Amino acid sequence: MVQRRCTRKSRPTTLSAKFELKPPPYPLNALEPHMSRDTLEYHWGKHHRTYVENLNKQTAGTELDGMSLEEVVVVSYNRGYFLPSFNNAAQAWNHDFFWESMKPGGGGKPSGELLQMIERDFGSFERFLSEFKSAAATQFGSGWAWLCYKANRLDVDNAINPLPSDEDKKLVVVKSPNAVNPLVWDYSPLLTIDVWEHAYYLDFQNRRPDYISVFMDKLVSWEAVSRRLEIAKARAAEREVEEEIRKQEEEKEQESDGEAVEMYLDSDADDLERD
Ligand SMILES: [Fe+2]
Repeated sequence: MVQRRCTRKSRPTTLSAKFELKPPPYPLNALEPHMSRDTLEYHWGKHHRTYVENLNKQTAGTELDGMSLEEVVVVSYNRGYFLPSFNNAAQAWNHDFFWESMKPGGGGKPSGELLQMIERDFGSFERFLSEFKSAAATQFGSGWAWLCYKANRLDVDNAINPLPSDEDKKLVVVKSPNAVNPLVWDYSPLLTIDVWEHAYYLDFQNRRPDYISVFMDKLVSWEAVSRRLEIAKARAAEREVEEEIRKQEEEKEQESDGEAVEMYLDSDADDLERD
């Protein structure tokens, strides 16, 4: 798995970790009647706020201080051996992403390239809906369901071609427990639904499937998902170019090493001839 390296120029001399509690991109009552103001006040105003405050306490003055939130998520995941700040960092990221996955008057069906890719990778929009709803409903306990763009070779039995094949660049539905998000698998999240009980208990009590249906039918911002897909594809293309350049440089290095050995062998031969 690709682990992103995060470099910093110098260690700050003061405590500077300050992640902010970003408000949702709409007023707290704007999703009513599908998601109540009360839910937003508790979910964003208390739960999300606590994750951000705890994260700031945990990262201040540490080597994570000064990294972006996304970098802290990936680094503190630590290949599954979580650093203490992972849960708060991932929950802060997940909630920002969740608020921006919804809009007043959302839901319905996407269009354009997003719809084409959904139809290509799931068979039909209806089949995607059913897979996404099922992932959200069956995540045992707390967690998240996601639609992601997957541009890497994880889960693909392809050890020969070092670049992603066309089949690798596709949409997938995944679910994750607790705070885990697909950034840690190097996937690009496009859409998420929070299935922690705090996300729906005030409006739906324990009826998680009803909450999931309302989310998909009335709240999803397909415009946000389409924008994220465009960015994810552009990033994947950039990374392919970088990978290709790296490969060519490696090949050149190997060729010049080979020439050096040949020259060495030639000079040996000359010595033998002289002898
Ligand atoms: Fe939540």
